[in-house]
Formats: sequence, structure tokens, C-alpha cells
Amino acid sequence: MAARCVKNQRGQVSRLWQSICSVDAAGGGRPISTSSARLQEIPKLKVEEAEPVDIPKPKSRTRILVLGGNGFVGSHVCKEALDRGLPVLSLNRSGRPSVTESWVNDVVWVRGSLFESEKWKDQLSDVSAVVSCVGGFGSNAQMRRINGDANIAAINVAAEKGVKRFVYISAADFGLPSFVLRGYYEGKRAAEDALRAKFPYGGVILRPGFIHGNRRVGNMNIPLSAIGSPLELILRNMKPATQIPVIGPLLTPPVKVTAVAKAAVRAAIDNAVPPGMLDVWGILRLGDPRYAADC
Ligand SMILES: NC(=O)c1ccc[n+]([C@@H]2O[C@H](COP(=O)([O-])OP(=O)(O)OC[C@H]3O[C@@H](n4cnc5c(N)ncnc54)[C@H](OP(=O)(O)O)[C@@H]3O)[C@@H](O)[C@H]2O)c1
Repeated sequence: MAARCVKNQRGQVSRLWQSICSVDAAGGGRPISTSSARLQEIPKLKVEEAEPVDIPKPKSRTRILVLGGNGFVGSHVCKEALDRGLPVLSLNRSGRPSVTESWVNDVVWVRGSLFESEKWKDQLSDVSAVVSCVGGFGSNAQMRRINGDANIAAINVAAEKGVKRFVYISAADFGLPSFVLRGYYEGKRAAEDALRAKFPYGGVILRPGFIHGNRRVGNMNIPLSAIGSPLELILRNMKPATQIPVIGPLLTPPVKVTAVAKAAVRAAIDNAVPPGMLDVWGILRLGDPRYAADC
């Protein structure tokens, strides 16, 4: 048909106005008269009115889930996300903390363990990113379990539920011999491996050294910044020294808890933050505007 139409357009322009090419059952072109008498012969199609169908809208993913949102780092991650106007959900075993600060009322607290994902995984359907601040110390087996297995379980269920980004608060190793805190670092590295495998495009690992700020233990506030802040100031200016073999990693500067929280939330919501690992310098660049300005 296309060939005949082209021929008509090129050679028989006047006939083009009298006829329109169309395809008959055999696939060839035939002229159709445009006179009103012939048009009336064309049977009218009866258009049935379609029944309205309710198509459920996919849930928009807006919430941030903080694992361990009542802990030292987790509570600052919750506050930072709320300050940015994000709806925040926290999961931890003891649920809502007893502190009377107003931000606590703005978080949706879910009581549960990372090991019991069946009980809370439905909460992930409208979660865009997870930030895990779950970790801890104890025997090697306990440290392997809480820093590694618990987080691996959370990473797997978040990937299965279609969460786009996952931020894991890991730890710098200070170049310590492998027998020191073995279970802690084995757990951290196992969780990092799982994150790279399950979130190749949206997994961000933060490896801070010592984190300082006001740490609440029971009813007491421990001002870790009394030591952390001056040490951070000194060591921040000694970056080249961290390259010295053996002692260099021990000079990793402490970082303020608010900077870790800022970096974690940025990594959770900003696609411009690439997947992979952020060491303490990367955390400072992303989480501390004073340091970013110095760079
Ligand atoms: N603090 C530092 O100087 C530092 C330095 C480098 C790296 N990090 C890492 O940063 C992360 C946060 O540290 P942090 O000092 O904030 O720890 P934290 O205060 O002890 O907080 C740990 C949080 O994990 C929750 N949690 C523990 N087991 C859980 C489970 N099975 N299921 C659900 N939630 C659980 C705890 O709440 P519940 O007890 O209510 O469950 C708590 O909210 C850790 O991974 C840590 O290794 C910390």
C-alpha cells in the first residue's frame, strides 16, 4: 500500500484528492469515494460505555525506616530526618523510648527484633529507604550475630520488599589486629558484603571511627564530646598521617553524632550519593558543612 500511495503523491496529485488509499482484505489499496451518499453506507459502530474500574494506586514510598531509632546514633538519625520533613518509622526491641523530647512524638515506633521480620516486614511497603543503626558489643558470637546476622536479615527483607536505598552504619577498623573485637568486625564486614550484593545501586556503608555527642545511659547524659570534639579538631587536620602504616588508622578522627546522622540521611534520600563505602572523611564531607567548606 505504501508504494501505491507514494506513486499517487508523486505522479497523480489530482487523483489523490479524489481517492484515499486503504487496505482491502487482500492487502492491496483501493479507492474509497468520499461522497456523502457512500459515507452513509458505512455501518455505525455501537460504542458501549466502559464500566469504571478501580485500579488501586501503588503506595508511594515516602517513609524512612530507622532500625535502632532509640539508640545513640539512631535517635539523631530520626531527628535529622524529621528536620528534613520526612515521615519516620523506627524499629527496635523496646519500642518508644522514655525520653520526653518532642521529636519522639513525631516518630512511629514499631516494637520488634530484626530477627523477626515476619512481624514487621509489611511496614516496608511505603518505605523508600532504611538506615540501620543496629549493632553492639558482647562475646564474639553475640557481636557476629547483632552486627552481622541481624543486619543481613534486615537487608534481605528490605530488598525483597522493593526498598530502593539502604544505609548501614558500620565501623572503621583502626587497623587493629584481627583478634581484637573479632566478632564485631566479622559481623560488620559480613553485613557490608550482603549490602553490596542486595543493594548494588542503593547500598551505602558508613564507616565512622569513634562517634561523640551526648550519650544517654539510663537517666544520665554522658558528654562524649568533651573528649571527642578537641580530638576531632586535632586529628581532622592530620589526614596525611592516617596513611602511615600501622599507627595511621589509629589517628582516624572522631566524628560528631550529628554529622553521622546528616550523612546517613543524605545517603538515604539523595540519589546523587553513590553506592559504596564512606569512610570518616566521606562522612565529614557529607555531614559536616564546616568540613565540606574547608575541602
Ligand atoms: N557509638 C560509636 O562510637 C560507634 C562508632 C562506630 C560505629 N558505630 C555503630 O553505629 C551503630 C549505632 O551505634 P550506637 O552507639 O547508636 O548503638 P546503641 O546506642 O547501642 O543502639 C543500638 C540500637 O539497636 C537496637 N537493637 C539492638 N538489637 C536489636 C534487634 N535485635 N532488633 C532491633 N533493634 C535492635 C537497640 O534498641 P533496643 O535495645 O530497644 O532493641 C538500639 O536502638 C552500631 O552499628 C555501631 O556499631 C558506633
